[in-house]
Amino acid sequence: AALWIIVPAAGIGARMQSQLPKQYLPLAGKTVLEQTMWVLLQAHHLKSVVVALHPDDQHFQNLDVAQDPRIQIVVGGAERADSVLNALLVIQEQAAADDWVLVHDAARPCLQLTLLNQFIDSLFAGSQGGILAAPVADTLKRVGAQHEILATQDRTGLWAAQTPQMFTLAQLLPALQQALAVGRQITDEASAIEAAGHALKVVPGPSDNLKITRPEDLPLAELILRAQRG
Ligand code: CTP
Ligand code: MG
Repeated sequence: AALWIIVPAAGIGARMQSQLPKQYLPLAGKTVLEQTMWVLLQAHHLKSVVVALHPDDQHFQNLDVAQDPRIQIVVGGAERADSVLNALLVIQEQAAADDWVLVHDAARPCLQLTLLNQFIDSLFAGSQGGILAAPVADTLKRVGAQHEILATQDRTGLWAAQTPQMFTLAQLLPALQQALAVGRQITDEASAIEAAGHALKVVPGPSDNLKITRPEDLPLAELILRAQRG
């Protein structure tokens, strides 16, 4: 079997409030997306990285990494799940059913290479998909429309899902198509796999695998990357 990686990078980064989409903002001497790609291109068993881009994307072709022959481009969709589906349809034409598909957000550049490859190795020999996740550290409040506290949630057993998430193509493509067909809200691939009734493993992930979402996340990511790489 081979590994195909999908990088959803078609978002506009509304919460980042910057002119440039956040995947193209500078981070530790490259762009956010290049930092992410630098890690992913060193994945074990890698066949190809399929990057989903916004239809109006003007920036990807200017990146040095765009010349890498292992990279393919697809047009993204309205929601993240649509972008992932478009990539899956391209992969389906080239892959075997028992090939693996790993999805990783463009906006998570602090994933460490050793962890990525440990994650891949821990799932690749089996048949069950899995995700990187971390136990929730904060106290969780359910809050109403007027910002009033309604309840304190018991956080026992609650984990925050991250990417990478990895599944066989044979499980992920029909599960995602089905979830989209019934209008299910899908914020990660695992939820579609769960809805299809397939078992999934959780691999404990680090809290420094942050997703760059808001302006204050960028300097944090810069610190994390510089500390990781010395
Ligand atoms: N993404 C995508 N296609 C979409 C929406 C998002 O490929 N239609 C990608 C983003 O580029 C990002 C990842 O999915 O790498 C995670 O999404 P998020 O952090 O929400 O990014 P944005 O949607 O760009 O940001 P925002 O929600 O603040 O607009
Ligand atoms: Mg979004």
